[in-house]
Amino acid sequence: MKNKTKKLSIIALIVAVIILLPFFIYNASLGKGMPADSVENSASLNKDVIYQIVTDRFYDGNSTNNPTGDIFDKEDLKKYHGGDWQGIIDKINEGYFTNLGITALWISSPVENIMTIDPSNGASSYHGYWAKDFFRPNPAFGSLKDFQNLVKTAHENGIKIIIDFAPNHTSTVVADDVVFTEDGALYRNGELVATYSKDENKYYNHEKWASHNSYENGIYHSLFGLADLNNLNPEIDTYLKEAIDKWLALGIDGIRVDAVKHNSFGWQKNWISHIYENKAVFVFGEWFTADSHSDKNMTKLANDSGMSLLDFRFANATRALFTDDSFTMENFYEVIEETASDYDEVNDQITFIDNHDIARFASIVDGDEKAVELATVLLLTSRGIPAIYYGTENYMRGEKDPENRADMDFPPTTSRLSKIIRKLANLRRRNYALAYGTTKKIASNDDAIVFGRYFGNDAVIVALNRSKTETYEFKDLYTDLLSVPSQDYTNVLDDLLDNSGKNDYIISNKDTLVERIILEPQSAIVLAHTNGDFEDSTVKEESLIGDVSPSMGIAGNTVSISGKNFGKFKGKVFVGGTKAKILSWSDTLINISIAKGIEAGKYQIKVEPKKGKIIEAKADFEVLSAKQIPVRLIINNAECEAGAKVYMLCQSQAQYEKTGDKISEHISENPDEMNFEQDPEKEALIKKFTGPLFNETKSIAVYPSWFYDISVPVNTDMKVRFVKINPYDEIIEASDYFDFSTGEEAETFTFDWK
Ligand code: NOJ
Ligand code: CA
Ligand code: CA
Repeated sequence: MKNKTKKLSIIALIVAVIILLPFFIYNASLGKGMPADSVENSASLNKDVIYQIVTDRFYDGNSTNNPTGDIFDKEDLKKYHGGDWQGIIDKINEGYFTNLGITALWISSPVENIMTIDPSNGASSYHGYWAKDFFRPNPAFGSLKDFQNLVKTAHENGIKIIIDFAPNHTSTVVADDVVFTEDGALYRNGELVATYSKDENKYYNHEKWASHNSYENGIYHSLFGLADLNNLNPEIDTYLKEAIDKWLALGIDGIRVDAVKHNSFGWQKNWISHIYENKAVFVFGEWFTADSHSDKNMTKLANDSGMSLLDFRFANATRALFTDDSFTMENFYEVIEETASDYDEVNDQITFIDNHDIARFASIVDGDEKAVELATVLLLTSRGIPAIYYGTENYMRGEKDPENRADMDFPPTTSRLSKIIRKLANLRRRNYALAYGTTKKIASNDDAIVFGRYFGNDAVIVALNRSKTETYEFKDLYTDLLSVPSQDYTNVLDDLLDNSGKNDYIISNKDTLVERIILEPQSAIVLAHTNGDFEDSTVKEESLIGDVSPSMGIAGNTVSISGKNFGKFKGKVFVGGTKAKILSWSDTLINISIAKGIEAGKYQIKVEPKKGKIIEAKADFEVLSAKQIPVRLIINNAECEAGAKVYMLCQSQAQYEKTGDKISEHISENPDEMNFEQDPEKEALIKKFTGPLFNETKSIAVYPSWFYDISVPVNTDMKVRFVKINPYDEIIEASDYFDFSTGEEAETFTFDWK
């Protein structure tokens, strides 16, 4: 009897397994991932709209933490005003940001700052840029518990938290005849680490105020008197890595890095790589420029350091468009085209029209609300990730700092601009063309433009006229819109910026033609498919990669690949030729882990969906061979003829043994003549060089010594060779090979050319 029961239960078990097996197999092959626009996708911000907050000026949610004494005065724009994290929490709970369509907040640096007045300018540290202890919260903004509550509340409401962070300096210390009581001191969890005036350990750079006359000068000199940290000092490097770890552990989703023009490329790359080892968050830096054209050092940082940049070129072009008649819409579009070719990932740069360091947009257009609205339409529909400065939605005015940082003036009712922002932020989430699309001009004149954004079958057509007097009519526009019935396209902005009643956007079925668009003065139209995302079961849609973030990393790091139509079931992902481990998979987002053993270098990422053909990412992913440290290389006695400069090629022994360096083969025989013969091999070689090296920083090295800070793998045997290159790009001399081995922390290596 007993045996019979046993047999029966075994049979029942087998039957159950047979019945359930397909279910298990089905489940195992399901990606079970999150969508690209999930708040948990901290690696990429493409689907987000950022809102920039000066924490002290936004909302005071807890008056008990307000500073006392001379640093607090609500009537003085240079003093603390009481805004804090609780205030931001209150506004999240009220739905203020959600009603605006905002999904990411960039807040002031959260770290403890000096709490005394800067005697040189009478200002307090309300802005958060005068750090004292990067491990402790600024008590005026709240406690660590408040910060955690902020992150939690934000996440519960689908909002990411991006912190400002300033690893370049502490507080002000350099000015003639002024005594700074704080002495630029640096603390760690309340314990003194260093002071500027007694700096035996070289924790700071001790150069005068930056004149900004060269890249080098801006990096190692003091920015407006701020105590410049010596990031190449191993203790400072470790301090800054562990400090950012602390804030990452508190759940932040992104970092805006302050003053990236004033830190060396090498140190930053090493620090950012450390961040990505810890967590795949989105990092963007502030390279301040008043120009809308390229700067090669800036572009290099955006493309090769692993972080994106705030897109000052876009901001300056947009500001010129609405304030300078001689800067035409065609000029604006030139900047769109140039940036698309300069940046490896133009859709990952952070666009804006105003911020806390420049006059507010409403001020530069003298309160012209329509102009603010039109510029915001351009901001929210152009390539890049848009950031809206607090108060712009309410047309707040304010000239230069600190007038541009006044207390937030909340709109009494939803402003027209708030409605515009909400509509376009929502469109960004639904329509992939805004997040990942390319840009194409369809028509333009001096004042008006019609352009399209395209990603697969998704498209958005933007038509905008800046003129205050002229009406323009554009006819027969071939838009590349998908050929579907015209009634499926609408003006997402309704009549907010076009109430002419003349536009019916007649879209012809067959040839994707918009027959006519009439643009009255200061009007705009944003045409998109009714559902935002183009979904039509009768039209086969391809799979497409929109973004890969972060853009560099070491084995074991998480990387997120976002896009469209990856399918429900797990497929495969390759980094170069190597298969990656898939951590999660959804139709719009794949998270992978970088496999071990891939050689350092740049690789294309490919996705092979379960169904459909292999698709490729546009920009390369940089695999780093190991954890990074910053290293300073100094070469002494490198005299150069006039105009020539020293560069270097630094590689691991292993890399060198594989490929050599080919430098000797390209040393010029006629160095004084421009060589008109194109030599692609030589050109490729020159691109690999780092430099020109620096030679004007007294406390580090001056000519005929040269130096440079680079990011290199830990515990690795390295080989470096220096070369002199003349203004005709001719290699005129090469040094011997020098060998050195890295350890586990920042180090300086000095060599002699002779
Ligand atoms: C750039 C910031 O945006 C600015 O406000 C600040 O004063 C400097 N960096 C120094 O931190
Ligand atoms: Ca307060
Ligand atoms: Ca610096």
